[in-house]
Amino acid sequence: MMFTLYSKFTIVNFLICGISCCFIDYFKSRSVSNIPTIANYFSTKGRYEEVNPYLIEDILAVNKSQLPSAECREVHLTAIVRHGTRYPTSKNVKKMQRVYNLVLHNASGRESWLREIQNHWRMWYTEDMDGRLVEKGVNDLKHLAVRMSKLFPSLVSEEKLRGGHVKFITSSKHRCINSTLSFQRGLTELWNIDDQEFDHEVNDALMRFFEHCTKFLKDVDDNPSALEEVDKFNLGPEMKRVTEKIADRLHVPYSLITDDMAQAAFYLCAYEFSIKNENSPWCQLFDAVDAQVLEYALDLKQFWKRGYGYPINSKSSCILFHDVFSRLDKAASENKLGTVSEAVTIQVGHAETLLPLLTLLGFFNDSERLTSTNYATQAQRSFRTSKFLPYAANLLLVLYDCGEDGLRLQPLLNEKPMVFPGMDQQQAAIPLYQDVRDHYRELLQGCDFETECELFHENTYT
Ligand SMILES: *[C@@H]1O[C@H](CO)[C@@H](O)[C@H](O)[C@H]1NC(C)=O
Ligand SMILES: *[C@@H]1O[C@H](CO)[C@@H](O)[C@H](O)[C@H]1NC(C)=O
Ligand SMILES: *[C@@H]1O[C@H](CO)[C@@H](O)[C@H](O)[C@H]1NC(C)=O
Ligand SMILES: *[C@@H]1O[C@H](CO)[C@@H](O)[C@H](O)[C@H]1NC(C)=O
Repeated sequence: MMFTLYSKFTIVNFLICGISCCFIDYFKSRSVSNIPTIANYFSTKGRYEEVNPYLIEDILAVNKSQLPSAECREVHLTAIVRHGTRYPTSKNVKKMQRVYNLVLHNASGRESWLREIQNHWRMWYTEDMDGRLVEKGVNDLKHLAVRMSKLFPSLVSEEKLRGGHVKFITSSKHRCINSTLSFQRGLTELWNIDDQEFDHEVNDALMRFFEHCTKFLKDVDDNPSALEEVDKFNLGPEMKRVTEKIADRLHVPYSLITDDMAQAAFYLCAYEFSIKNENSPWCQLFDAVDAQVLEYALDLKQFWKRGYGYPINSKSSCILFHDVFSRLDKAASENKLGTVSEAVTIQVGHAETLLPLLTLLGFFNDSERLTSTNYATQAQRSFRTSKFLPYAANLLLVLYDCGEDGLRLQPLLNEKPMVFPGMDQQQAAIPLYQDVRDHYRELLQGCDFETECELFHENTYT
């Protein structure tokens, strides 16, 4: 269907502007086929476009078919957004340098991809890049802003923005501040606004709660044994096979390729693609099976450090959870009086901000936990960060006034409607806001950040 439309477009294009447009189309379709075959396994280093492939054809396309009908009016939107595509952090750059040197000096073979790495590819990543937002990341957020204005035209509107009804809150990290500015620029460029500036609030207590939760820091973040399952998997049989296959492809002794090196080379493939849109020769070091193993290692880490592994991981987001619901409550009660002061809240943070909150809300909760020994049985797991936590990942909570049908709350993850886990709702129906509050009653009455994050607090429920 989409392909047909695209072909028609090409023909029309050709008739209208002839050869020059054909060139553009040629490069467009080239870039489509330029996607590494393993691009769906990059975990949190993946492109937003792999999660929503229709964006590859049209980055501003939206799918409104699952939004409620015209009887419902948008009242409020809270968006929790991860920053856009970024450079690697200095820690990863060091590892990438090491694997590059090894391939440069110790590998041999006639494969064209290997010669390309050795003769043409340059190690251009430097430590001072330190996780900064890249140009693609600027566009991730600009485009997201435009799509949101198309999805929710009465909320993400010029009038609401100019009237001060759109609030921006961000983590203090430069990639997040830059993402916030990029989102704003997406809107000001869309509406040609040049006579007004918009501010933002930096709030790390809210967007980097994980740094302020003592129990999380002590029990998980600074506790090496918390990631025992990850370490075991990285030394286990699946990973060993991956490192051996890489060593074979490079014609080096098995002992030279560690799991760390395999991961660094995997990151090189991922970064070259997400930052520069290139299917780099580094990607040839992996087949799909290798990539799935590396993806599992990354998911395991997220699971134990930010997800269901330990209850404090998600409890550390209690402060954000309450913040979100108090905004929704406020909008709900203001709506009764006629005017909602804060129509839209854009909150920009990290993968580490979103994942604990999604976990607290119960999303992607498999019946079996992810461990070092159940890679095979977890092949169909829902906890697959490649599928839901790319750059610019976003959780949207949209409050609707449906007249006689009441106030309703729709969650969208990466612009796709979701069902609150465990709520008995028909797939297509949007739940009543009151039913959502009832569903999360226990958290709304408890989940106190100060209490949960006390060092000796015992978790009574998970
Ligand atoms: C848009 O949403 C509808 C309804 O869920 C779905 O069937 C369709 O595949 C979506 N279209 C795209 C391009 O994702
Ligand atoms: C890898 O290459 C470097 C530079 O040529 C050399 O010094 C080193 O001994 C080699 N390592 C192995 C294990 O062959
Ligand atoms: C924001 O991103 C742009 C584009 O990469 C870059 O030029 C600029 O230096 C960045 N600013 C900050 C504060 O990181
Ligand atoms: C996740 O699933 C487990 C096992 O099915 C269950 O005990 C737990 O309550 C769930 N957690 C959440 C937050 O829904």
